[in-house]
Amino acid sequence: MTRAHHAVVEDQFGPRAKAYVESAVHAGGEDLDALEAVVRRVAPVRALDLGTGGGHVAYRMARHARKVTASDLSGEMLAAVAATARTRALDNIETMEAPAERLPFPDAAFDFLGCRYSAHHWHDFERGMREARRVLARGATAVVIDAYSPGSPLLDTHLQAVELLRDPSHVRDYTAAEWAGALVRSGFQMRTGRTWRIRMDFDVWISRMRTPAVHVQAIRALQAAASAEVRDHFAIEADGSFMLDVMMVEAIAA
Ligand SMILES: C[S@@+](CC[C@H](N)C(=O)[O-])C[C@H]1O[C@@H](n2cnc3c(N)ncnc32)[C@H](O)[C@@H]1O
Repeated sequence: MTRAHHAVVEDQFGPRAKAYVESAVHAGGEDLDALEAVVRRVAPVRALDLGTGGGHVAYRMARHARKVTASDLSGEMLAAVAATARTRALDNIETMEAPAERLPFPDAAFDFLGCRYSAHHWHDFERGMREARRVLARGATAVVIDAYSPGSPLLDTHLQAVELLRDPSHVRDYTAAEWAGALVRSGFQMRTGRTWRIRMDFDVWISRMRTPAVHVQAIRALQAAASAEVRDHFAIEADGSFMLDVMMVEAIAA
């Protein structure tokens, strides 16, 4: 049976909602702290967390925004976010099931956008970015965070291959230049950019996605056969753990 890409995403994430709420890589980190510092500075009235997953951006935004909408393709993810928000007494978070490529919000509905570790799953990245711009008021701040490709084809091919083997809903970790191009074409003005390298513990990384054993073996085979350049860049360890490049861009809706 063939499925649309959105169904592949839902099948991947829905049953793993609890794991994403609890995931240490998602629940914290310097990138999330940096995003929160921007929300604190802007103090938005209506903030949107696009591709909320386990809701970690929404929980941080809720401390500084009057109202937060957490949106995602996966209803199961959103149910977990709503339950967690209730537990934490964050009563200014609402949830909305929607694909990033077709948002059910009017133009200029929000004055802040956060989008973290989601865009690399979208089947139409540029359309999602145009939708993000459409629902923001002119002058609104957008903060996007995602894994990114270091750019050289050698490293890029390895990265996309292991990502896809781990998770069939992976589409592409874009390069910094691809991100900048998509943002500018969608009507954003780039403000600042930052990068980090985050260690992916191999067992945790594949367990969270329940990667099938045959794919785990293929990832390990690719890592074992990787060239010195690939091993060095990703700092691949004996157990398969590696360093992932992550970037944050702050942009303004022009
Ligand atoms: C890795 S999780 C997001 C993590 C979360 N933003 C955080 O900071 O912890 C990726 C999420 O993107 C959602 N997603 C993937 N493709 C999407 C799309 N086209 N539209 C909306 N959400 C999407 C998935 O359902 C999943 O919940």
